[in-house]
Amino acid sequence: MAPDKFKLAVLVSGRGSNLQAIIDSIEKNALQAEIALVISNVKTAYALERARKHGLEGLFLDPKSYPDRNSYEQALVERIQSKSVNLVCLAGYMRVLGKYFIEAFSGRIINIHPSLLPAFPGLNVQKRALEHGARFSGCTVHFVNEEVDGGPIIMQAVVPVFDEDDEASLSERILEQEHIIYPQAIQLILADKLTLSGRRVLHKK
Ligand code: GAR
Repeated sequence: MAPDKFKLAVLVSGRGSNLQAIIDSIEKNALQAEIALVISNVKTAYALERARKHGLEGLFLDPKSYPDRNSYEQALVERIQSKSVNLVCLAGYMRVLGKYFIEAFSGRIINIHPSLLPAFPGLNVQKRALEHGARFSGCTVHFVNEEVDGGPIIMQAVVPVFDEDDEASLSERILEQEHIIYPQAIQLILADKLTLSGRRVLHKK
């Protein structure tokens, strides 16, 4: 019998281009994983459509159907645990996760963020990088802890910021790099190539 594949749950809220990059890497066998479940907190998220097109289970879980954040997160955790998932990947998931969820998958949640953290955590980050006059920006894949966008950094990619840029052009340049480094970071984790030293992530040779 073939060994079980490394299982991912991907949490999304919107367009899902990073989900697509993960799916494409798996289909090209550049990433030896399988997506066990895609969950969205937004009913109309195009990411759910992408999941279905590739025969993946895509689930909308409505935060409004739960009395508070904790009970919503309990429902999320149950769904994910029922699939024996190895890693939870946030891919444009626009809700802040609380203690309950983070403790349930401690050290096994990663996120992609469209800036060079620790610069510009939070929202509207490409706009803020432009307004601030940054000459370089980029994206970061990091482990998720309770500090928003503050967990240990796994990979980053840098892009230049041009005088002619607007939010759309800078976002597009960054997104191209997100699609490259997110699947690579997942592959590093499943191949056991990372160790944590304090808040630094070291890459084994
Ligand atoms: C991406 O740029 C991702 O880095 C960002 O949302 C976009 C989602 O695009 N995530 C965050 O800002 C999280 N704080 P996608 O739905 O096409 O993958």
